[in-house]
Amino acid sequence: MDVDLNTGRFEAVETGALIVLSFEGAPNKTVDALTGGWLKELYDSGEFSGKAAETALLHRPAGLRAKRLLVVGGGKAEEFTPAHMRKALAIAARKLQSKKVPNIAFALGAFAAGDGYSSAEFVSAAVEGAILGVFEPDLHKTESKKDEKPVEAFALIGSEELRDAVDQAKILADAQNFAREVANEPANLLAPADLAKRALDTAAEYGLECEVLDRDRMRQLGMGALLGVAQGSAEPPALIVLRYVPEHPSSEDHLALVGKGVTFDTGGVSIKPADGMEKMKYDMCGGAAVLGAMRVIAQRKPTVRVTALIPAVENMVGARAQRPGDVVTTLNGKTVEVLNTDAEGRLILIDAITYALQLGCTHLVDAATLTGSIVIALGHHRTGAFSNNDEFVAKVLASAERQGEKMWRMPMDAEFKEQLKTAFADLANIGTRWGGSITAAWFIREFVADKPWVHLDIAGTAYLDEAKPWMAKGPTGVAVRTFVDLAMNWS
Ligand code: BES
Ligand code: MN
Ligand code: ZN
Repeated sequence: MDVDLNTGRFEAVETGALIVLSFEGAPNKTVDALTGGWLKELYDSGEFSGKAAETALLHRPAGLRAKRLLVVGGGKAEEFTPAHMRKALAIAARKLQSKKVPNIAFALGAFAAGDGYSSAEFVSAAVEGAILGVFEPDLHKTESKKDEKPVEAFALIGSEELRDAVDQAKILADAQNFAREVANEPANLLAPADLAKRALDTAAEYGLECEVLDRDRMRQLGMGALLGVAQGSAEPPALIVLRYVPEHPSSEDHLALVGKGVTFDTGGVSIKPADGMEKMKYDMCGGAAVLGAMRVIAQRKPTVRVTALIPAVENMVGARAQRPGDVVTTLNGKTVEVLNTDAEGRLILIDAITYALQLGCTHLVDAATLTGSIVIALGHHRTGAFSNNDEFVAKVLASAERQGEKMWRMPMDAEFKEQLKTAFADLANIGTRWGGSITAAWFIREFVADKPWVHLDIAGTAYLDEAKPWMAKGPTGVAVRTFVDLAMNWS
């Protein structure tokens, strides 16, 4: 979708549909006046009240050059944040796409920013919402079978000083959609080598260094945990490393972004039930998010050094697959008893994290669709955040908050760690059923060498089982915006 800033007066903008906001109990006065009282009448009739997610469409609005006017509810004006803006515009754009309107515009109007957010933040959120809202997972449908005809152009009507916010928002939302598209790819079309190809292409396009470690190299280095997971698949594993090096670093800090890249998770010999297993093509959403974030980081050029690491594997059943009870030696020398081959995410992450430490990374953030247990705890509404460092997790959570990505810090009491004890190796890869997302986090924590670390369990937030009015079914691209915000606001 083309995105542009239009500095004209909104009454004069020629477009398929003009989007405007109207809040709860407060019909947008400009719009009401323009439409000869249409909006007020709608409010009075109770058909539209300005609540979030409500929409009302008017054809051939008098006084406008637009073919349609779409009013979208903003909820309570005093509670309106960029997150609400993002959602409102996503709903509006999605709605208009379903009506096959090819070009749309949003009149920011006299909208006043408040409550600690700048107008640039609201504008960015609006543009992001529109871009995220129109994304459809129909890449592999043939033309005639596509449900939607995409909206081709979106214009934000506002003043010239908003141009940068519009442009930056486009870069960010396009990267998030890129992550969603990669995550949507089925496992037959996206094996670890294909994910590596996407990383190499991204690096070439945006000027990053990229290195892909193959199975032989992993053997030489001693990545026994990652290799153990990979050994059951005919698809060779890849450890993808992307490097961004700032021209003028503001400190010695070196941030690692680590993303789980399981291109398909059958569970291995500890096989998963058939029902819903197709969703395990999404088990590389963490890796896709890291890749999306690096695309933006390469363009926005933060002053902190950032290295992305994506351990990419397919977790399969087969004659060569690892068995429950196998003991593997990890890159950092600790041994692990693989009690459950379905707890593979943590196994690949620890070798990637150890490698990040070997590369000199000083701060670690990982994103992984790691446990079903986090979905029990937080549902689909919040990402679980785990950390060994109050200050660093506060920083990550502040980025998430600014970006409207809901997260929640989870506890990591030492008692949980006890569950990982085994008679046969240094650590077992699973604990009991209880607090499963916490024992998973503890397992990873055993490998971070006390460096500031945040683990994001995105199993509940990485994809939608059903479409929402603001977003298509499938991957959400969660964590892309938080990662970018963290790098950009580092010092
Ligand atoms: N990829 C799954 C976690 C997952 C579950 C993601 C549901 C998205 C939705 C992970 O590899 C896994 O299988 N975890 C197991 C761990 C268990 C064996 C300790 C789980 O959560 O059941
Ligand atoms: Mn698994
Ligand atoms: Zn998995």
